Amino acid sequence: MKKVLVTGGTGYIGSHTIIELYKKGYEIDVLDNLFNSKETVLDKIEEIAGKRPNFYEIDLTDFDKVEELLAKNQYDLVIHFAGLKAVGESVEKPLEYYENNVSGTINLLRCMQKHGVKKIIFSSSATVYGDPGDPKYTETMETGRNLANPYGRTKYMIEEILKDCVVADKDFEVVLLRYFNPIGNHSSGLIGEDPNGIPNNLMPIIMKVARGEIEELSVFGDDYPTPDGTCLRDYIHVVDLAKGHVAVIDKMEPGVLIYNLGSGKATSVLEMIKAFEAASGQRLPYKVAARREGDLAEFYADPSKAERELGWKTKLTIEDAMRDTLKFLEQN
Ligand code: NAD
Ligand code: UFG
Repeated sequence: MKKVLVTGGTGYIGSHTIIELYKKGYEIDVLDNLFNSKETVLDKIEEIAGKRPNFYEIDLTDFDKVEELLAKNQYDLVIHFAGLKAVGESVEKPLEYYENNVSGTINLLRCMQKHGVKKIIFSSSATVYGDPGDPKYTETMETGRNLANPYGRTKYMIEEILKDCVVADKDFEVVLLRYFNPIGNHSSGLIGEDPNGIPNNLMPIIMKVARGEIEELSVFGDDYPTPDGTCLRDYIHVVDLAKGHVAVIDKMEPGVLIYNLGSGKATSVLEMIKAFEAASGQRLPYKVAARREGDLAEFYADPSKAERELGWKTKLTIEDAMRDTLKFLEQN
């Protein structure tokens, strides 16, 4: 196995995964429409890894362009990160989310089918579990019920589409990776999460508060049934997450493999604030605000399947993530 097409490769998780793929000698092409990333990320990848992926500025919803790319290149594997991911925006613009994420993926799959590309790793999310009752999510739990927003439904729908493709083609190899909450960045501080527009997620907002671009962090609710009243999440260092993708490649086989990628530990919003303050030595201004609609009090991964079958588990801590985030803030 040699040549990998990474969709969404200039994005946050994609760029970190490319660094890990280069360590294992893969050849990489990137497809991205640069909607939520910049082409300069490729310079940073080259600085870190000493290699530069071929870049194709293509939108997955443009079937002809995707087709042309797959006709010209014989890929062994596609790692599919490209997608829109802002939960709140997906509620306001559901059709854009379904078109971009679901139709974009269907285009990609049609082109893969046409050109004999039989392996795909898909960026799914813990959000597909909905609200199963038990906060410790295992891969065998039911998915697709009580999904809180269109974004989550696109992830669920794509998972189901991929499962159907495996039924139709016995040689097709699919991996669904369900990410928990990725944070941090490469220790060089050269690449990291740098979303265009107003961020929704906790870490990018903490970064904006630290830079003084947002006055204070709003903690969404402190009256949850958790030890300090704020929500608990499973934060995973993006470099550990990236390594999870590499770990699964050699395990791929016809059929569907599903893995949670998380640390198995739950951390509260207040603990995240304290960890940032400890790493930076600066106070992070925050206020307690109303609960955010759709938030669950607590969820975290049961990551034992990935450890058992892939020999993968998280090694980096929240402290590592905070240190690396500060490095990224310094450099950018
Ligand atoms: P990101 O926005 O940094 O990266 C996604 C990339 O896809 C961007 O560079 C964007 O320009 C590109 N893209 C979007 N639509 C495209 C299209 N139609 N054609 C071509 N390129 C397109 O996001 P990320 O955090 O790196 O997330 C990567 C994947 O992981 C996404 O599918 C996301 O839904 C999923 N995921 C992310 C998280 C998270 O919290 N970051 C959690 C669970 C799952
Ligand atoms: N939070 C705040 N203030 C903020 C932002 C977030 O208190 O300004 C809190 C939230 O209420 C939540 C926690 O910080 O308790 C984490 O929130 P994020 O928005 O960073 O992450 P979520 O757990 O809500 O969701 C994320 C992704 C989803 C994905 C899910 C599981 O946004 O797409 O992780 O992978 F499905």
